[in-house]
Formats: sequence, structure tokens, C-alpha cells
Amino acid sequence: MQKHIKQRSVVRAILAWYKRHGRTLPWRNISDPYRILVSEIMLQQTQVSRVLEKYPRFLRRFPTLRSLARASRREVILMWRGMGYNTRAVRLHECARVLVRDHNGRIPNTLNDLLALPGIGMYTANALLSSVHARPVPVVDVNVQRVLSRVFWPMHSTDSARGAEEVAALSGTLLPTRRAYEWNQALMDLGATVCLARSPRCEACPVLRWCSSGTRMVRAGVSRPGRTSRQNGLPNRIYRGRIVELLRNVNGTRRVRADVLARSVHPAFSSRQERWFKELLSGLQRDGLITLRGERSLASTYVSLA
Ligand code: ADE
Repeated sequence: MQKHIKQRSVVRAILAWYKRHGRTLPWRNISDPYRILVSEIMLQQTQVSRVLEKYPRFLRRFPTLRSLARASRREVILMWRGMGYNTRAVRLHECARVLVRDHNGRIPNTLNDLLALPGIGMYTANALLSSVHARPVPVVDVNVQRVLSRVFWPMHSTDSARGAEEVAALSGTLLPTRRAYEWNQALMDLGATVCLARSPRCEACPVLRWCSSGTRMVRAGVSRPGRTSRQNGLPNRIYRGRIVELLRNVNGTRRVRADVLARSVHPAFSSRQERWFKELLSGLQRDGLITLRGERSLASTYVSLA
């Protein structure tokens, strides 16, 4: 089939599918840029189901950009509970302050201005241009990259995808400019509910008949753990999360001695892990999540939420 006929058919079929099967999500088709911003930051590294649980509480406490900008960092970290990757809370808070201070509380409408904001990378900048400013730009994350790769190139394994640059070029060609927002949301939904990473539900796919990979992909084996730094089999990210969560819970007491903290988050903690734990704490301090006070030894160092 000619390339452009396939492209047109695929776009039409996905848009039609989205009309019937698109998810109803509280940050969709709304006009409050602040609420869209919060959702995009939360969705960067957290699953939709989890964000759905935590998003309303965050917005009840911080209903406007200005209320978020006025809050203390500590309180924003407290309200981020349950979301993970807590550095995002710090960045979102800084972002709100910069927006109020330098942009009159508005979300900029150019890529450069967006990228200059704390916590906003290429993906989120494009998502904001699409969702806040209705700009006809493609929004491509790993999920969209996977969907487009599979449909337009024969993929032999569920974990393979075409290179980001090739997919970016294709996504620009495909983009239906008058329905760009819908299209971007549609691709996300297709990736999240049908064209799943490990076990795609090809039988439910609206573009199976044009798909270059279709049911021919072989399921990838178990993925190898990455090169993340580990302790007791767990990546540092888990310990970072545990430390911040424990500090949230002792908010009344506020300070916790570092050696007590170490044993609470790592039951098998011993002096051999002291250096690792100090580095973990320094990292959290650098990211603005905690404050350290005291001496060099863990037993005389006190840790509190930022
Ligand atoms: N992931 C990132 N942005 C999203 C959105 N607007 N809807 C669903 N998932 C998303």
C-alpha cells in the first residue's frame, strides 16, 4: 500500500477509535492551564491510575498557581505523598514561583521559554504547547514512540522500537494539524490501553490491518536490571523515596538522627553502608528535598524535610 494512504488511514482510524474508547481523565479538555501543568508533571513518571488518586487532593490544597507558589517547599513535598520521584515536587514548586514572578502567572507559549522552566523537558514542553495552547505539535514519549514504531516498521520483538529521530520525523508528517490535541491524547491512550509494552492487545487495535508488526512480534524476555546503583538488591531511588516518606510521617517531630533513619529505611544497615548512605543524603539535600544539620558522623547528623 502506498505510504501516504496508509498514513491517512491510520490517523483516521485512531481518531475514530479515540472518540469511542478514549479515557475520560480530569485533565482532559479543560481550560485551566495550571491544572494541566500539574497533571503533566505528575504523569512524567507516575502511572495514570496513581495520578488519578493523588491529583484531586493536591489541587484541593493548591487550587491555583499562586496558592502553590505561596506555599512552603515542605508543604508541597508533604502533599506529593504517594507520587514517588519527589524531586518533581520541588521543581513544580519552583516552576510555579518562576511563573508568578516572571510570567505573570501564565504558562509561556514558546518552546524556549517553556524549556527554561524548572522541571520542564522537551516532552512536557510539547505536551503543554499542545494541551494548554492548542498548538499543532506532536507529543512523543516512549509510549508513542513504541506505538508508531510498531505500526510503521516491522518490529520483531515487543521491546524494540525505531530510533527517536525517525519517529519524530514521522510524527510530524502524521500530525493532523486541526485535531492535534485529540491526536496526541489518542496515541497516549492507544499506547496505555491497547498497544501495551509487554503484552499488546492486538485483537482490540483499530489499526491492526495496517500494522507492520501486528501479531507477529515475539514477546521480549525479562528485562535486565539497568545499571542503577543498588543496595541490598534495591535501586537508590527506593531508598530516597523511603527517606522522604519517613520524614513526612514524623513531620511533628521534624528532625530524625541520620543513623536512626538509616536503620529504618535499610533494616540490614551496617557501618559498611555508611558512605553510601551519606551520599544518598547529600543527593537529597542537593535536590532540595531535605536539610542536614550536624557533624560528619551519622549519629550526630540530623535530617529534616526541606
Ligand atoms: N501522560 C502524559 N500526559 C498524559 C495525558 N495528558 N493523558 C494521559 N497520559 C499522559
